[in-house]
Amino acid sequence: MKVNFLTDLKSDTGTLVFLCFKNQPLDTYLNNLNKKIKGYVDKAIKVSSMEYNNNSFTDIVIPQGSNANRIILIGVDQTKIINEYDWGKLGSFITSVLNLKKISDIKLIVPKLKKNNVNETNILYGMALNTYRFNKYFTDTGKKRINFLNSVTVISQNAKNIKKLWIRFNALKEGVFLTRDLVSEPSNNLTPSLLAKEASKLRKFGLKVNILDEKKLKSLKMGALLGVAQGSANKPFVVTLEWKGNPKNKVMDFSFVGKGVTFDTGGISIKPSGGMEEMKYDMGGSAVVLGLMKSLALSKVKSNISAVVGLVENMPSGTAQRPGDVVKSMSGKTIEVINTDAEGRLVLADAVWYAQKKFEPKNLIDLATLTGAIIVSIGQEKAGMFSNSSKLTTLLEKVGKEVGEPVWNMPIDSSYEKDISSDIADMKNVGSGRGAGSTAGAIFVKRFIKNVNWIHLDIAGVTWAKGDKPLIPKGGTGFGVRLLEEVVLQYISNKR
Ligand code: BES
Ligand code: MN
Ligand code: ZN
Repeated sequence: MKVNFLTDLKSDTGTLVFLCFKNQPLDTYLNNLNKKIKGYVDKAIKVSSMEYNNNSFTDIVIPQGSNANRIILIGVDQTKIINEYDWGKLGSFITSVLNLKKISDIKLIVPKLKKNNVNETNILYGMALNTYRFNKYFTDTGKKRINFLNSVTVISQNAKNIKKLWIRFNALKEGVFLTRDLVSEPSNNLTPSLLAKEASKLRKFGLKVNILDEKKLKSLKMGALLGVAQGSANKPFVVTLEWKGNPKNKVMDFSFVGKGVTFDTGGISIKPSGGMEEMKYDMGGSAVVLGLMKSLALSKVKSNISAVVGLVENMPSGTAQRPGDVVKSMSGKTIEVINTDAEGRLVLADAVWYAQKKFEPKNLIDLATLTGAIIVSIGQEKAGMFSNSSKLTTLLEKVGKEVGEPVWNMPIDSSYEKDISSDIADMKNVGSGRGAGSTAGAIFVKRFIKNVNWIHLDIAGVTWAKGDKPLIPKGGTGFGVRLLEEVVLQYISNKR
């Protein structure tokens, strides 16, 4: 979706899209147009009985007396719009209307909304996010889910401000689209090495990207991650990324760590075949980290940020690790692998350890499609959050609500520690009981966290959308990119 900006509606040609607010007069442009076409707009609103509920529109085709092909009116109830996400949903609705009508180019006339143009920009963001399609594998073009919307000309007195803000939101969009592309990609075309290659493409945005191959991982003694990888013919990789947006300062504000299991069969503790194809998105954590780093680099965020993704494939084979094997993690701690399907935490154990050692960040946030249990607990609307820092959880809760990527704070106190104690090693990789499966995973990861403000996000439920959602055509969601970009921005603005 291309976006242009103009301060004035010079001519009423093409398709004009207006927002009409409940209990408010028509905005100046629309009012002038209404007069020019003899009250046709007023009449159309009445006749079509357009509702002002953010989900209703009126389509006026070839209005006589105007040069426009169409005038599309969107009925808005501003009292129902309370956060940035709600404005995004409105934008997403506009895209749905335009796709329904097969319209490719529009002029969007936006009145001044409060809050320094953040709202207007979120409308554009919502519009853009809903144009995403993953069509690359259809050879029959008739099967493609076509997106018609191609270009938007924003008409606003604040065009200059919106244009400036759009740089950031366009960067976000680029990051989210990268995450969605990676999550949707089938595992035959996204092995660990191919995912590492995708990461290395981010160099062109000014990120420092370092790729560690199997030999290097062995020399670093990443036994937990390597144990997961050993059953696959596709070799493991760990990739680090760095953004030095605040070079005068030596402090590393954040490290983001992602689980990148490019396919999770479960290994020898093999999963049932029904639905196993979904495990192509078990690299969702790493995809969010890569999309996020791309966004931060594109918008040149003034902060030092680093990332580590652990890329492996979990396969059963003659070389695969067995239930009962004991592996030694890079930290030196030993792990009894009771269930080879609890592989994500093994990958994270070495990835978070390496991130702390290499980058010494102030804050570390890991993302992983870690447990099916998180879906049992809180469903697919929110990510599960586990943390040792109430300051960070407060920030994520607040931002999550604002941007429509909510998180739910889950228990992780020391009373759960005994759940993963092993008879023969420092810990085992699953809990003893049947309950609190997501906490067992989180408390395992916590064993590898030293002195750092830490958040673990279990995104198993929110990484994939089985049906269309606002801003999200069904498929990979990109959940986490918008959230964590905003967290970084708010964190650095509070700090200074
Ligand atoms: N990748 C899965 C978790 C998952 C499930 C992600 C559903 C997305 C959707 C993870 O590696 C896994 O298999 N977890 C096990 C843990 C168990 C063996 C303790 C699970 O959830 O069953
Ligand atoms: Mn698994
Ligand atoms: Zn997994």
